[in-house]
Amino acid sequence: MNPLLQIENLRVCYGALEVIKGVSLEVASGESFAVIGPNGAGKTTLFKAVTGEVPGSSGSVRFAGQDITRMAVHQRARAGFGRTFQVARVFQGLTVLANVICSVEARLRGAGRSCGPWYAWRPAPAVVDEAEQLLADLSLAHVRPVEARFLSHGDKKRLEIALVLAQQPRVLMLDEPTAGMSHADRLAIVDLILRLRRDKGITVVMTEHDMDVIFGLADRIMVMNYGEVIAMGTPAEVRVNPLVREVYLGKEMVDA
Ligand SMILES: Nc1ncnc2c1ncn2[C@@H]1O[C@H](COP(=O)(O)OP(=O)(O)OP(=O)(O)O)[C@@H](O)[C@H]1O
Ligand SMILES: [Mg+2]
Repeated sequence: MNPLLQIENLRVCYGALEVIKGVSLEVASGESFAVIGPNGAGKTTLFKAVTGEVPGSSGSVRFAGQDITRMAVHQRARAGFGRTFQVARVFQGLTVLANVICSVEARLRGAGRSCGPWYAWRPAPAVVDEAEQLLADLSLAHVRPVEARFLSHGDKKRLEIALVLAQQPRVLMLDEPTAGMSHADRLAIVDLILRLRRDKGITVVMTEHDMDVIFGLADRIMVMNYGEVIAMGTPAEVRVNPLVREVYLGKEMVDA
């Protein structure tokens, strides 16, 4: 395997509390990789250490062959990390379309392309077209003029994914993308991620508590407990692992 993301013996502490205790993993380009485990296992912290939001105390993170262990968050974002949050983060006071336009423009400005002066905000037609296409891809076209704060939970989560995709990341990191969603919204997210993989070949790293979502999407699953990796393998391997069954999945999942 030629890994896109490679983590070696990563440790993360909050003060005196070590919450990531020597985690190593590799994710191949185009792979869907899931991190699961009980509440407090360290999944979100692992995400933060990969995107640079919290520093690791030791170990290394490599991305596309480059050592990014000491890079700042914005440098990692430019290198190709896109991340959503356990609680969706969008521009609440802007319309759905304006949200996506801002994200497309941020990418262009980051790449040194001019988008016109900030005080005369008239997005270029190509930017609007790209934003409209993203909204269509994410089934959000019908709420285009709605302010983000008025969106349903499922629409807000999809908008957050649209904002990340507008950055054209090489890795899409999704922290509990279906948390608190209706069954229909969950299915829509699964369908969306499958489409993104098929059409754009995007690499996905995700955490999720909904096992139907995980087993429907992941090529490989890593299971964490108290900051340690207790299992790693295909969904079929993880499903029958006795330790995983004991600490997380429970008997029903395995017998289902
Ligand atoms: N900012 C922080 N300061 C101190 N401790 C923290 C902080 N954030 C998380 N922790 C602790 O670190 C551990 C791992 O938390 P983390 O949020 O990474 O777990 P998680 O696997 O994402 O859980 P969940 O499934 O509930 O989202 C927990 O014991 C948590 O209480
Ligand atoms: Mg979490």
